[in-house]
Amino acid sequence: MKKRFTVTSALLYANGPLHIGHIAGAYLPADIYVRYLRSAGEDVLWVCGSDEHGAAITLRAKKDGTTPREIVDKYHVEMQGAFKGLDISFDHYSRTSSEKHHKVAQDFFLQLLENDSFEVKTLEQYYDEEADQFLADRYITGTCPSCSKEGAYGDQCEKCGSDLSPTDLINPISTLSGKTPTLKETSHWFLPMDQHEEWLSKWIKEGTFEGEQLHNPKDWRNQVNGQCMSWIDGGLHPRAMTRDLDWGVPVPVEGADGKVLYVWLDAPIGYISATKEWAGKNNKDWKDYWTGDTKLVHFIGKDNIVFHAIIFPILLKEHGGFILPDNVPAYEFLNLEGDKFSTSRNWAVWLHEFMEANPDKKDELKYVLTSIAPESKDAEFTWKEFQSRINNELADILGNFVNRAVVLSNKYFEGKVPKRGELMDVDTDVLAQLKEYPAKIEKLVRAYKLREAQSESMNLARLGNKYLAETEPWKLSKTDMSRVETIMNIALQITANLTIAFQPFLPQKAATIAEFLGMDLLKWDSLGSDTLLTDGHQLNKPSILIAKIEDKFVEEQVAILEASKLANIETV
Ligand code: MF3
Ligand code: ZN
Repeated sequence: MKKRFTVTSALLYANGPLHIGHIAGAYLPADIYVRYLRSAGEDVLWVCGSDEHGAAITLRAKKDGTTPREIVDKYHVEMQGAFKGLDISFDHYSRTSSEKHHKVAQDFFLQLLENDSFEVKTLEQYYDEEADQFLADRYITGTCPSCSKEGAYGDQCEKCGSDLSPTDLINPISTLSGKTPTLKETSHWFLPMDQHEEWLSKWIKEGTFEGEQLHNPKDWRNQVNGQCMSWIDGGLHPRAMTRDLDWGVPVPVEGADGKVLYVWLDAPIGYISATKEWAGKNNKDWKDYWTGDTKLVHFIGKDNIVFHAIIFPILLKEHGGFILPDNVPAYEFLNLEGDKFSTSRNWAVWLHEFMEANPDKKDELKYVLTSIAPESKDAEFTWKEFQSRINNELADILGNFVNRAVVLSNKYFEGKVPKRGELMDVDTDVLAQLKEYPAKIEKLVRAYKLREAQSESMNLARLGNKYLAETEPWKLSKTDMSRVETIMNIALQITANLTIAFQPFLPQKAATIAEFLGMDLLKWDSLGSDTLLTDGHQLNKPSILIAKIEDKFVEEQVAILEASKLANIETV
């Protein structure tokens, strides 16, 4: 039976516009991975959507003097539009404030209650008298007891990654009123994470669960294994799965008025409700994508590791009837021109703005973001590098090769694919190398090494350039046209292969090259073939595949950034 893939990208808080730092992590890499899987004929579902509960939303609403509903309605639509603009190919984009999701999350919670997965505890929690609200998570800040960072949140220190609860904070302050909170009694459903250390540790260290080998732990990124083990070795603590708030999924239990599910309980369940929604619309069985011989893959940013590799797996296991994630490819952060992306300081390249100003550069942006993807360490985007990657790699290597192959064929053979004659060593050698590309690229993509995978696809264009440089058909055209026929046939076969090799990374460019060649986009299993174009096949006239980026463009972009930093527009 064929394996299925359920791929998820972290649901985004619908509380602000998307910038390219978001895209570089959990979204573009997943798009590439999924496009490859589809091309390879796998049964794959990719879901994403808006995370519409939690303090990220309510605090933003408060700051804007509006309601959470207005905030999520606005940004859910905006973000989806921005993703569309970049041609990000989710199968389904959902949202957690929907009725459907509320129902799915509540049913999930009830099943956990039935399975005795929670402990109810009454305890004293910080309370803001002025706002008349309990303070958890981002509603409270203070000094981190582990690293002394000021402004650590009530659930986690963003600096050292420590798992915190509000009472751990030194000098706690309410983010609602800025005042020191008081303590007040309340009760909540806790997930006793401490009771799950043993199996989690086996599953993460060895990839085994209930005696079965589920995945190879060597396939997980070091940072992911490392962060999980440090959590587990440090001892897991019970974590409250409910909150005293009025925005969220209501706790579906009598007498729990004013309580909602913890956002980190409801949000990952959003992957499941998204699957159900998609299945309903597409005549599929959602269960196929969450059980049995299916690989569940969560693309996330590194700040989400614990939620996807520890908490959600505990929830899935406790609920029963679900697979565990096969891998959790987590991305480090992308910085911008020497500084962290910051919405509040407006230090960002906003996706919708970039797409509006440069509608023809989506693949250029994708290429650069993949080239610098923060797979194993933080990375940096600069406009200078944007220019050099596009000019020196995309244009000079890919653009140049495709252009030469198609232009020369048009010139010598009126755009009809010439046939190959007798092969020389240089020809058999290049064809042998061509055959190695599918396995090379595929292995890297399946190992989530998309940076290297893209660069391997570029190596195929490099191979083409090297072949033309060695065989020099432009010289031979004066003396030995039958030799030129062979060379151009091979160059065109390589060009046709590039449409497949680049399809996951640069879908628009791949389609444009296919147009030059007058061919359909082919599936992955055709990659490596040296007979994609038949003799006599009519090519089209090429146009410019990749426009070079002028210095002026770079200067303008940097100026836009600097100006917005100066203006320092106050948003959240
Ligand atoms: N909205 C969260 C964030 O931006 C991610 C949620 S991922 C999910 O950090 F699994 F909970 F959906
Ligand atoms: Zn800390």
